Amino acid sequence: MPWLKELTRKALRDLEPYKPGKPIEELKRELGLKEVIKLCSNENPWPLPDSVAKAANSAIKEINRYPDPEAYRLRRAIAKKWGVSPAEVIVGGGTEGILYTLFQAILEDGEEVVFPFPTYPLYGVAALAAGGRCVKVPFEDSFAFPIEALKAACTGKTKAMVLCNPNNPTGNFIPRHDLLNLAAYLESQRVLLIVDEAYADFVDDPSYLAGLELFREIGKVVIVRTFSKAYGLAALRVAFAIAPTPVVDSYAKVRSVFEVNTIAQRAALAALTEDKYIEEVREKVIEERGKLFGALSNIGLHVINTTANFLLILHPASNDIYDELLKEGIIVRPGKDLGLPGSLRVSVGLPEENEQFVVALEKVLKRVEGQ
Ligand SMILES: Cc1ncc(COP(=O)(O)O)c(C=O)c1O
Repeated sequence: MPWLKELTRKALRDLEPYKPGKPIEELKRELGLKEVIKLCSNENPWPLPDSVAKAANSAIKEINRYPDPEAYRLRRAIAKKWGVSPAEVIVGGGTEGILYTLFQAILEDGEEVVFPFPTYPLYGVAALAAGGRCVKVPFEDSFAFPIEALKAACTGKTKAMVLCNPNNPTGNFIPRHDLLNLAAYLESQRVLLIVDEAYADFVDDPSYLAGLELFREIGKVVIVRTFSKAYGLAALRVAFAIAPTPVVDSYAKVRSVFEVNTIAQRAALAALTEDKYIEEVREKVIEERGKLFGALSNIGLHVINTTANFLLILHPASNDIYDELLKEGIIVRPGKDLGLPGSLRVSVGLPEENEQFVVALEKVLKRVEGQ
């Protein structure tokens, strides 16, 4: 049946599917382990607030009905909290759902989406899936955002640029001045700027320019925020974007109508009111990130401190370390899956998880480096 092999669109034939972090159950199954620590997907490891769990539980009684296709209450709550109009809010099935739909709505065949590289791999997959082309602009050696090269990469075929701010997996953010400068340039070139702020809640540097301010300042940008990280709703698949109304309208033409289920809508609505919880999670992540950075540096590792809820370890034997950590029941993310071979990305976990990780890593390093 060779023709079946040729069904895939030509542009996708060489595309490697996105490799997510290894699920806990999979590792338990594969190695017969009872306990596994997952530090590979930058989730929130702390328990959810009661109000969110309650909202999700009570929504279960309504799953015989389709969800509200407009996510009316959630969109209004987001708009109110962010000080924008509900007509400027998109609610979608995670950041990935929003990007898939947005690219389908705006990309003509062969139009380009520019982004720095390495970054969150789904930008490229979503652009290709929508018939677009990706233009990857390498980060500078120090991982600084290549502002001038990004500008230079824009051509008459460029429709959008995606910036991950702070970036995954490098963990740094774009200096305020550079972001304003780039945003103004893109507007002048009619290139839509999309800023993915999945990790914005963990930035503790006052010079960070958050997207809302950028939206107010420049207007013609799309700011994407997820409920999967600080809000702790990764499994529910819900995110939102603040966007100019014409972009929201364009998005609405092709969106998957019932993409965000009732449980996700209710839980997100409850989570939005939990400011104290989010602040506590943020403080705990920042504290643990600092402790983990100190512990890893103390054992002589080259660690990149970040402004997100993960750290990046640079090590030439990263693949072996990854494999050996799995045997110890610890899942981190090999940099090769994120376009950064020679590195490991490790999420900031619960205090006890971070401690166990450091102990296991020391053991593994002896094995790997002693080889
Ligand atoms: C940069 C970035 N954006 C978004 C997400 C989360 O996406 P979603 O909202 O689809 O869960 C992640 C998760 O790893 C990420 O690293």
